Amino acid sequence: MRSFPFEFALRREARFYPEDPGGVTGDVLEIGPGRGDFLLAKAQSYPNRRFVAIELKKRRFRKLVDRVKRRELANVLLINGDARIVVRQSVPPNAFSQIYVLFPDPWPKRRHEPMRLLNDEFLELLAARLTSGGELILATDDQSYRGWIMKHADRVDDLRLGAVHESGDALTPEWVPTLFEQKWRDEGRTITYFSYIRPAED
Ligand SMILES: C[S@@+](CC[C@H](N)C(=O)[O-])C[C@H]1O[C@@H](n2cnc3c(N)ncnc32)[C@H](O)[C@@H]1O
Repeated sequence: MRSFPFEFALRREARFYPEDPGGVTGDVLEIGPGRGDFLLAKAQSYPNRRFVAIELKKRRFRKLVDRVKRRELANVLLINGDARIVVRQSVPPNAFSQIYVLFPDPWPKRRHEPMRLLNDEFLELLAARLTSGGELILATDDQSYRGWIMKHADRVDDLRLGAVHESGDALTPEWVPTLFEQKWRDEGRTITYFSYIRPAED
């Protein structure tokens, strides 16, 4: 099993839409938006907030670009690349008040666990990119991955567990379900929504 960072990923340059963004900062960062249901609905509802999304797959990125253009959203920056690299290289510390990772690929087989995105190293990186008092918001239908994330987050000094909703209720009333969320709900899977806070400095 190859482990991160993969050489090809490090060599691949990230692409941006719009092309010359002038800095990867904003209010809300979403990692792995997929079809972008959550991102686009939120960006439409909050035109004064800047949304940034990093999507690994080129095809999904291109479709997201089309959707952003069609909706004429001027407050969205899309990035095609591996979030583990893009966040480290392009996002400055204390940049976002909210970071969302919704239904990350669970890699359920034990031998694939090293592929899981939300290990302590990446969680530590995300914590450093949150503003003080900022929130990391997560959702998964995979209970093994949930436990794994919690174990890894426990090792990160700058993250404190916030809310945990195991009942299937989203974290906020104005939640917008993602494509995968709709799929898992239709299949009757239990979804856990949980958050971590970067504690405010004294
Ligand atoms: C299971 S899908 C969930 C998509 C969407 N969040 C949803 O709930 O419908 C996981 C998404 O994360 C993206 N992804 C996986 N690894 C990534 C990485 N290292 N950086 C950025 N995106 C990644 C995948 O390409 C995919 O779009």
